[in-house]
Amino acid sequence: MNSHLQNEVDEWVARTPRSAEAYRKACTNVPGGVGSNFRFMEPYPMFVSRARGSRIFDLDGNEFIDFMLSMGSLLVGHSHPAVVKAITEQASERGTLYCIPHVFEQEVAAQLAARFGQAMWRFVNSGTEATMTALRIARGYTGKKYIVKFEGHYHGHNDQTLVTTSALLRQLGRGDRGVKVPASQGIPEETYALTLVAVFNNLESVKALFNERPGQIAAVICEPVMMDCGCIEAEPGFFEALRDLCHENGALLIFDEVKTGCKLAPGGATEHYGIKPDIVCVAKALAGGLPLGAIGADEEIMEIVGNGSVIQVGTFGANPLVLSVANVVLRDLLTPEAYRRVFELNRMLVDGYRAIVREHRLRAQVNGVGPNGIITFTDRPLKSYREFMTADEEAFRLYWFAMMNRGVMPAHHYGGDVWTVSIVHTREDIETHLGAFERIAPMFR
Ligand SMILES: Cc1ncc(COP(=O)(O)O)c(C=O)c1O
Repeated sequence: MNSHLQNEVDEWVARTPRSAEAYRKACTNVPGGVGSNFRFMEPYPMFVSRARGSRIFDLDGNEFIDFMLSMGSLLVGHSHPAVVKAITEQASERGTLYCIPHVFEQEVAAQLAARFGQAMWRFVNSGTEATMTALRIARGYTGKKYIVKFEGHYHGHNDQTLVTTSALLRQLGRGDRGVKVPASQGIPEETYALTLVAVFNNLESVKALFNERPGQIAAVICEPVMMDCGCIEAEPGFFEALRDLCHENGALLIFDEVKTGCKLAPGGATEHYGIKPDIVCVAKALAGGLPLGAIGADEEIMEIVGNGSVIQVGTFGANPLVLSVANVVLRDLLTPEAYRRVFELNRMLVDGYRAIVREHRLRAQVNGVGPNGIITFTDRPLKSYREFMTADEEAFRLYWFAMMNRGVMPAHHYGGDVWTVSIVHTREDIETHLGAFERIAPMFR
């Protein structure tokens, strides 16, 4: 380990004895001490005591300006008063679960329809459920069985898409063909036999799959921005060509907007890039920190869900508590003015990072879009997962610990995931963030 990194980790360990103790205790009943494998980190994860607005506190009382914001879910910050009010009102006066229809379903669906231009919506509890459901709908609608995904695109933890999400560079082979590498044990080949893998920003790699299986591909699913791999955007014209290719071959284009939905613009990447996919999946930012996923498409596609020929069900789905909150978040908090302000603050953050990178001649890429951004320590401009995998992981680790020791949680410790500027961050928060990065930048020369 380089000496800067060792010093920063030592300092962090000295500041977090209660997290260390909580972690030891957690390991007795919680596998790996964490509730989701992505939350584990060496030497141990931070344990949270509380969070409010743009601030998060650990068990030792350390305070951080939070730009990780629950992996980008909290565009309205922690415990926004309007969210707390909506939760309280629903729970105390109207109940938390019915398993019977209620009016918030239509109200939230109408708001999403206006944002994304997709008329019909169903609601689930997570991004994973949204993408799983979208794939089933695409197969039901087209009557075809294969699906295409891209290297490095994460669509949740279901077996059929948990393939080539975290493969090593040496596992990927030639640059013009995707390779299937399951991201976990317990995923037998048969469970992803109908999944095909292409290379993002490489239309030829998708064409080759359509040519090999004419008339058999139901859908291409993609993250409109690779939010887990350095914030990589599609090259101009890529989405248009991809959608044309899908339609020429009788397949649907699915945008997995779990991370971009209601974030890049009110209508997500759909609006930001001006591309209407056939099916859209949204989740994280919808309900102010409560679990909600949604699948949208037009009437013709969703007819098969409405008439029950493709089933979409779930006890906790379309939960009234969660949807009553989403209704308020979408209607009252994520307003056009709020987006304008957030995008302006993020532009300031991205430009500030780029200026510091230039000034200190760092081997790093700074990408940003909407409320999101990230620094990736590589000298190769990022075009696909393959360039992202050339990044210096140890440099990212140093960046993360050094920023934490200066009171800024810059992003998830798991390198690749973007930062989020929320509606509760201030200009001073951005200046503090940039000030911390400016101070640590000499360590990366
Ligand atoms: C693009 C994308 N799709 C799907 C998911 C899965 O969402 P969830 O964790 O809510 O199941 C994620 C989670 O990070 C994601 O980033």
